Amino acid sequence: MTEYLQETDELRVAIDGPAGSGKSTLARELARALGYLYVDTGAMYRAIAYKAIQAGLDPANESDHAAIIDIARQVEFHFQWEDDTLKLFIDGEDVSEAIRTPAVEKLSSPVSALPGVREELVAAQKILSQAHSIVMEGRDIGTVVMPDADAKIFLTANPDERARRRWRQQRERGTSRPLQMVQSETMERDRRDSSRAVSPLKPAEDAIVLDCTDLSRAEVLEEAVRIVEEARARRDASL
Ligand code: DC
Repeated sequence: MTEYLQETDELRVAIDGPAGSGKSTLARELARALGYLYVDTGAMYRAIAYKAIQAGLDPANESDHAAIIDIARQVEFHFQWEDDTLKLFIDGEDVSEAIRTPAVEKLSSPVSALPGVREELVAAQKILSQAHSIVMEGRDIGTVVMPDADAKIFLTANPDERARRRWRQQRERGTSRPLQMVQSETMERDRRDSSRAVSPLKPAEDAIVLDCTDLSRAEVLEEAVRIVEEARARRDASL
């Protein structure tokens, strides 16, 4: 199946969904199966939150908003594969690990709700999306960044399962926190990401909603590959 996909024309694939749905794992594996570029847009919002913390800025203070938006305007993003992991460099600094801390995770949601930050990052993502062989993952990829993507997947899972996944990920990174705390933060992030005024989290009208609560990692990938194959067949039929 993989060989077949690699032989064919390139497609643009959008993957959206809430926190902990397994989007990053799916996007990474799908990009690898297709031989495509993978862009994790959540990492870009996290990077702005990381820089804001370093600068002593807080999105809860309205007086800090202009400075946070300035960071988004000036920062240079660079994605690079190293030893099978996607690394993110900002202004030459490898922030791949630093952006995964609970503090950055918490702040990334209010930072991503600032319209000025979204404007800057969406513009950068639209430029990246011009590569015709791409899997881009986030919250608004199918709706705003690549509304003309060939295939759109909205990956979801029930909230308890998503919180448990986040909790396990954090534990693997050595951050030991109570599951209940991760559950309430996941719910808060869902609420914030879905209710913000600009680009709220929602499936594009033409997205395929994939609920992976009871699916294994391999089954989710298989389903995604099937969705991409169908998208390619549709596109080829229209040529
Ligand atoms: O996917 P993630 O957990 O790394 O995302 C971090 C934050 O960024 C999250 O609160 C949602 C936000 N985000 C967004 O608003 N739009 C995107 N395209 C990607 C992420």
